[in-house]
Amino acid sequence: MPRYAITTFGCQMNVHDSERMHDVLRRAGYTEAGGPDEADVLVLNTCSVREKAEQKLRSEVGRLARWKRERGDRVLVVAGCVAQQEGERLLKQMRAIDVVVGPDNIPELPGLLGDLALGGLPVARTVFDVDAPRFLMASPTPGAGAQGGAPAAFVTIMKGCDERCSFCIVPYTRGPERYRPSDEIVAEIAALVAAGVREITLLGQTVNSYRDPLGALPRAPGASADDPDESEFAALLRRIAERVPGLARLRYTSPHPRHLTPSLIRAHAELAVLPRHVHLPVQSGSDRILRRMIRRYTRAEYVARTRALVEAVPGLTLSTDIIVGFPGETEDDFAATLSLVREVGYKGLFGFKYSRRPHTPALKLPDDVSEDVKGERLARLFEASEALLAAHLEGLVGTTQEVLVEGRDKQRGAGGTLWSGRTGRHEIVHIEGAGELDLLGEVVEVAIARANKHSLQAELTEAARAAARPRQRVGAGDAAGAEAARPARRVLPVIAAEGG
Ligand code: 5AD
Repeated sequence: MPRYAITTFGCQMNVHDSERMHDVLRRAGYTEAGGPDEADVLVLNTCSVREKAEQKLRSEVGRLARWKRERGDRVLVVAGCVAQQEGERLLKQMRAIDVVVGPDNIPELPGLLGDLALGGLPVARTVFDVDAPRFLMASPTPGAGAQGGAPAAFVTIMKGCDERCSFCIVPYTRGPERYRPSDEIVAEIAALVAAGVREITLLGQTVNSYRDPLGALPRAPGASADDPDESEFAALLRRIAERVPGLARLRYTSPHPRHLTPSLIRAHAELAVLPRHVHLPVQSGSDRILRRMIRRYTRAEYVARTRALVEAVPGLTLSTDIIVGFPGETEDDFAATLSLVREVGYKGLFGFKYSRRPHTPALKLPDDVSEDVKGERLARLFEASEALLAAHLEGLVGTTQEVLVEGRDKQRGAGGTLWSGRTGRHEIVHIEGAGELDLLGEVVEVAIARANKHSLQAELTEAARAAARPRQRVGAGDAAGAEAARPARRVLPVIAAEGG
């Protein structure tokens, strides 16, 4: 049986696409290899949102030429956004690549590999499914959570993007917006929850522009018929909350500020399943730059909407994405961004240096902020956001919080830390001294003991400790036996955005 490995770069959408590639390949009779060295087929699921991400693919393929030479029948697949962006050109530029497959063509991957095995030539398949959009479903393992034990799963509700932010390549690599029928979304979430998943993250490039192609959703409370920014996203959230009551947390990413409408704010106020955290990319705090970015909101509009959201949901925290050094960004523009970061009080921030991307409107503008200035602004931005996060985490010491336990901790050993998870506000919490308990997938109450730079240390409260299950032991005192009681969680190698 041929063996495959997948390496994932980039965003959650790519992580989700990699999961679906695992499903498609396994159904076609492939088995997962321990890593690229043991694989017959290696898939690189790529990102092209910034030039650096694209360069990563090119250097990775260069390195893999040797991997291919070691055995003549090895197959290298390039998937994801660079695949979509470059298509056949990749085959010409890099001879090591055998198959190029776009995000909408994942179901065709086994067929393409089959043709190749029969002696076919290298092939590129990058066609958008605009007429009949396909949304690949997770096939959950009962009792094990969606991803072999993981209590959190992604569900795609829309794909593509109709915005035209001038810096962004995504409309080119992911195509126009297509929405998934609401009943399919609800059915997938219900199946995941029945299999043990506790937290769902709804995915979409502009997730809150959602409209139901079936027209099956009633208008959400607070939705106005004549607001051009109104979507049916709030109605979808309400439908999920109502039909899947067993779901513990419902997150979404990434929303566009334009569609943070009164109906969505009201859903946050009324639905307990929505955690008190929203990631809302702002990109810049300067109106002049926002206009040049074609973001379609002003700083004042963004601030007013986030204020309304925080007023409706006290304690809600926000995180954001920011680009520094966009063409024409002056010191004053950047100062406006810094002041916005402080005004909104973000508790998390991804910052990026502007990078020119092919097929984007901003290519017309000279990339006139030097690398040095971009680097210096990024450092100042991180300094401001780290200070906000540190003060926030410090403020939580001594409180009790609810944590969804997502996994065993990598830092196991140090101070007896074993479990880690997130609060509803997305703060990362390491739980100490609970090694003998089985907490995976549980929402537990903890007392926050200390703040780290980016996370919290905590202990279970007495009540939570009394309610928790002991870990199952298969062989007496046998840690490996306890692990065997649950299927091991597959760890996807993710090379995430690293902030620059
Ligand atoms: N240059 C730098 N950052 C970019 N992003 C998107 N396009 C670019 C670009 N050309 C950032 C935005 C977006 C995040 C996913 O990546 O901040 O929200």
